[in-house]
Amino acid sequence: MEKKQQIVMSGIRPTGFLHLGNYFGALRNYVRMQDEFECYFMVADLHSLTTHPDTKQLKANVHRVLAENIASGIDPDKAALYCQSHIYETNELYLILNMLAYKGELEKTTTFKDKVRLQPENVNAGLLTYPVLQAADILLHRASLVPVGKDQEQHLEMARNFAKRFNHRYGEVFPEPQAFNYGLELIKVPSLDGSGKMSKSENQNATLYLADDDDTIVNKIKKAKTDSGPATPNAEKPDYIQNIFQLMRLVSSEEVIAKFEADFNSCNIRYGDMKKQLAEDMVAFIRPIREKVNAILSDEKYLAGIMELGAEKARKSAKATMEIVRESIGLKYY
Ligand code: TYM
Repeated sequence: MEKKQQIVMSGIRPTGFLHLGNYFGALRNYVRMQDEFECYFMVADLHSLTTHPDTKQLKANVHRVLAENIASGIDPDKAALYCQSHIYETNELYLILNMLAYKGELEKTTTFKDKVRLQPENVNAGLLTYPVLQAADILLHRASLVPVGKDQEQHLEMARNFAKRFNHRYGEVFPEPQAFNYGLELIKVPSLDGSGKMSKSENQNATLYLADDDDTIVNKIKKAKTDSGPATPNAEKPDYIQNIFQLMRLVSSEEVIAKFEADFNSCNIRYGDMKKQLAEDMVAFIRPIREKVNAILSDEKYLAGIMELGAEKARKSAKATMEIVRESIGLKYY
């Protein structure tokens, strides 16, 4: 298929097992986009250093995210699948964009404020300039479409601002990148406990991971919060019930969803049955991905080859952009 003009870029931090939020917010879109566009997908290992992880685990975590990308359907021959730290040009663009990012706006970023609350002992400059590095990842390929979940909306707005400021100061180089989802809206996959979202590092008992075994999936869903059911027909659903329906919409068939919607609206819903059905559909969805991930992880040589191939493609695009960037700024003296 002839690919469209627009370029796609996105990334995932190797900070733990990937979950349904990562899948439906990001990966599912990646898989469709790789057939239509020139795509750059990476493992954001440098971003993960902002929270000072145990770096002995880094290699295994990077391998896992790569394997989870491939098992979800990314074809390393169609898309560039690479590791952020392998592309040194990112660091140069990050430095240049830092001159266009203001302390006040960085301090106001929601993710920064969250981290300040969560880890007051480690409010480092990398954390403050996290959105600048993310903008560098995207602009490095002059990408305009960025498949991400709802939580990344503000980072994308900042990337657009940095792109606009660069263009205004040095000449038109970058498109303004937009957050993208094939559905109409960006999504947030909720956690099973009715509060917050699924997450790699928090809320682990209420998050469904692509690595969870069948029993774990069933048990987590069994524990999801419900109540005794609605007292009046066509009632509004409480958040935690809405969440169960939302998860069902991700993995169950139209008929199944319609049945439970009707049961809810006529006050005949049996949440035990609903959770059993959801668990069954979830197991059927996650199991093949989990099994593929395990097979891929056992082949380190294959993963090394994928990383090399991806880095080669990403470097080519990065070098071309940086030539233009240096030239536009005037960093050429002979
Ligand atoms: P990260 O690693 O936190 O998450 C990876 C992707 O998964 C999406 N996501 C969700 N979507 C829906 N519901 C959820 N509960 C949920 N949780 C996570 C995220 O929106 C994201 O798309 N800063 C980025 C990584 C990054 C990046 C980039 C992304 C670095 N450079 C350049 C895009 C472009 C992050 O921490 O994602």
